[in-house]
Amino acid sequence: MASWITHRVQATTIGNVEGTREQMAAVNELERDFTISAEKLREVAEAIKVEMMKGLEKDNQTVPMVPSFVPGRLTGKETGSFLALDLGGTNLRVCQVNLLGDGKFTLRQEKFTVSEPLRTGPAQKLFDYLAECVDTYLTNYSSEDPQMPHATKLGFTFSFAVNQTAINRGTLLYWTKGFNCSGMDGKDIVGMLQDALLRKNVSVEVVALVNDTVGTLIAQSYREPDTVLGVILGTGTNGAYYEKVSNIKKLSGGNYSPGELMAVNTEWGAFDMERHVLPVTPYDNKLDRKSVNPRSQTYEKMISGMYLGEIVRNAVLHLVDCNLLFEAHSSVDLNRLWSFDSSYMSTIEADATPDLAHTQHVLESILNVPKTTLTDRRIVKKIVELVGTRAARLAAAGLVAVVEHCDALEEGCSVGIDGSLFQHYPSFRERIVAALHELVGDNADRIKLIEAADGSGIGAAMIACLASVKK
Ligand code: BGC
Repeated sequence: MASWITHRVQATTIGNVEGTREQMAAVNELERDFTISAEKLREVAEAIKVEMMKGLEKDNQTVPMVPSFVPGRLTGKETGSFLALDLGGTNLRVCQVNLLGDGKFTLRQEKFTVSEPLRTGPAQKLFDYLAECVDTYLTNYSSEDPQMPHATKLGFTFSFAVNQTAINRGTLLYWTKGFNCSGMDGKDIVGMLQDALLRKNVSVEVVALVNDTVGTLIAQSYREPDTVLGVILGTGTNGAYYEKVSNIKKLSGGNYSPGELMAVNTEWGAFDMERHVLPVTPYDNKLDRKSVNPRSQTYEKMISGMYLGEIVRNAVLHLVDCNLLFEAHSSVDLNRLWSFDSSYMSTIEADATPDLAHTQHVLESILNVPKTTLTDRRIVKKIVELVGTRAARLAAAGLVAVVEHCDALEEGCSVGIDGSLFQHYPSFRERIVAALHELVGDNADRIKLIEAADGSGIGAAMIACLASVKK
């Protein structure tokens, strides 16, 4: 490898990255790989719309378009206390929502973690743990505030692709986000949770099975009636919107009135598993091969928090192997699969110190890379920005696809978005907005992006209310 002195002699600059000609050529190539043009974005949005139509038509399509059986919106007049159990990623939440009847509600929630063995072991163990968390929550809640009404109806936010056949019935289609529990085949998910609650003598009735996007959509429409889309940009990604039941061609039977709406969970994370449209890089492919679900969730793997750090890690290691970073030294930690947490990307993107001290901390103190130069750190920051920007731009294509599918662009609409990427990743929102402008010009101003924090839990409790009324 050329010495550092040689590097300095041949120094070249791209943006704020300065390095040797070889380093700059490599950065240039990464920039080409990860940059998505406005034309490509439009192609992605159009292709998502086509896949949505196919999914509405028939079962077993790439983008599943799962009917939620959630009938329309709440009126705001509903009252009562409802529970929600929200399982979607590493965190699990139990919450109680008290609907006050005047469009307002109160929320109390508690977080639990789901360990890796639970995420990949036998399903019954996972469900027993879920029941235990509900039990713990109820015990803590009633001792904290004995006056609070005791809620007995629960909405179960199960944030994975399911084949839903009723508001309280469904079977798993496939696991995502690193979950891979055995023993789910053909079993009703609500039944599994209900049995686990019974085993623990917890007297709670599971009345609804809810995807987190559907929960977010319902909760956000309660606040902003012009909401057309609920989105998650977190560990995984997905969107749900209101569809005319008459357009859900695969939904046979049922007693629906003309023009009736139903929330549909798109499961857009599955888009383009055929890889016809998305510009997948070798760094994405490397990740895909090591994931628990290879050759699936292509769109999700380019967008969501579970995967972004791993893409960065793959690109960084490529440069290390080409003798272009860290004087060709990696570390045990950097070599470990999934070790580059996406939260490190947030830290690096937000790093405005002149010597990139926070980036240095991530690389040298957390990932134990022996030594980094300022040039190394600038290159890593550049890679992080490229991967983060690509994710936000691709997410924008999904938003536009659904908003255009709903014909909501002219009139304008709200989109409720929950998830750690949207909430905490620096510039994620701004990058989405920039891409929206490239996609739909000034009409982008008519798409209001609203942070719908905790929407999935709140929405599930609200859907539990709808389901109880319907009974
Ligand atoms: C799941 C969706 C979920 C999304 C966001 C995806 O991996 O398939 O059901 O809505 O993650 O949590």
